[in-house]
Amino acid sequence: MVNTILVTGGAGYIGSHACVELLDSGYRVVVVDNLSNSKMESIKRVQAITGKSISFYQADIRDKQALTDIFTKEAISTVIHFAGLKAVGESCEQPLNYYHNNVYGTLVLVDVMSNANVKRLVFSSSATVYGESKQAQYSENFPLGAINPYGRSKAMIEDMLRDLSAADNIAKAKASWKIALLRYFNPIGAHESGKIGEDPNGIPNNLMPYVSQVAIGKLEQLSVFGNDYPTRDGTGIRDYIHVVDLVKGHIQAIAALEGEKFKWGGCNAYNLGTGRGYSVLEIIETFERVTGKKVNYKIAPRRAGDLAECFANADLAFKELNWKAEKNLENMIADTWLWQVENPQGYT
Ligand code: NAD
Ligand code: WQD
Repeated sequence: MVNTILVTGGAGYIGSHACVELLDSGYRVVVVDNLSNSKMESIKRVQAITGKSISFYQADIRDKQALTDIFTKEAISTVIHFAGLKAVGESCEQPLNYYHNNVYGTLVLVDVMSNANVKRLVFSSSATVYGESKQAQYSENFPLGAINPYGRSKAMIEDMLRDLSAADNIAKAKASWKIALLRYFNPIGAHESGKIGEDPNGIPNNLMPYVSQVAIGKLEQLSVFGNDYPTRDGTGIRDYIHVVDLVKGHIQAIAALEGEKFKWGGCNAYNLGTGRGYSVLEIIETFERVTGKKVNYKIAPRRAGDLAECFANADLAFKELNWKAEKNLENMIADTWLWQVENPQGYT
């Protein structure tokens, strides 16, 4: 029997890439998305890339009746939960909107899942849940301590899901919750076809879309936020991961939830990163080399809330999910650039 996966937020950047990977791996895909930060065009392109169709519902995950109807209609076996808001700055301005969409939205989702007795869940968490640490390489057992409403919404959801899983053990429930909390580092890149990619609204917050919009002439100049960090060249270091590698981690997580490791249920966190960091200046230099385009930049003051250096220890995902990132920085940049050149206005 073909397993059906419900992908919340499947029209978005990471969700659309996950849909391609799921369809290519032989799963049936159902998407629920309210299109608040995405366009239907991404779903059409996923279908064009794979030659397979998606069962799409335009609905908000906070709409319990709409979600219940989807679970009644479709024989869902596992949920990958991407839907949510993700801009750190915006979350400081509109915290309630973030808690409502992310925390309450997830609450409604797991409630409906529970009623439908669907108890396998892969959740999009983030490296932002970690607190500050002396070590720049983060392992899953490091203390949590998000510093903005967006990060705290992810941490609260993690807590809620851990509680849900723990309650199963107390109740000795037969169908135990099986949950993978995937903590993404910095996803960048696009599908190698150039047909789907990241399509930020307005001026991008994140480094890679900003760099690529400067290179194509849509934005004038990149501000490098600080060159006085205690790093090898003074600029911030992050663990950039190709979005296709990242979504492959979700396919592996689904397999793990069905396997021996989660036989008795559980809720485990896994870092998804490459395990190596690059500085902002290294990103610019590699971008210029790979694309042949100049990136106009200036050094600007530090951005509030930024860490000097942050990269993953991804050993646990290798050990327990049999997953590791395979694409290098050149691949990530070449695919970002192809998407940018072929879709200068994104999906519109
Ligand atoms: P995205 O905004 O492109 O995708 C999110 C999708 O969810 C969008 O299509 C949006 O329309 C939809 N959505 C939002 N609220 C919804 C709601 N209430 N009901 C139904 N649909 C809703 O973002 P993305 O980059 O693809 O991120 C996906 C997930 O991964 C998010 O949960 C995000 O927090 C998490 N994440 C992203 C990054 C990153 O750098 N992109 C890093 C770590 C974690
Ligand atoms: C990367 C580096 C900046 C923009 C954020 C969220 C995090 C996660 C991923 C969702 C840093 C520098 C950036 C610019 C710059 N999202 N930079 N000029 O901050 O690691 O993580 O996105 O979960 O929650 O916080 O990513 O791409 O914004 O920054 O110099 O215009 O690039 O200072 O060193 P970050 P980023």
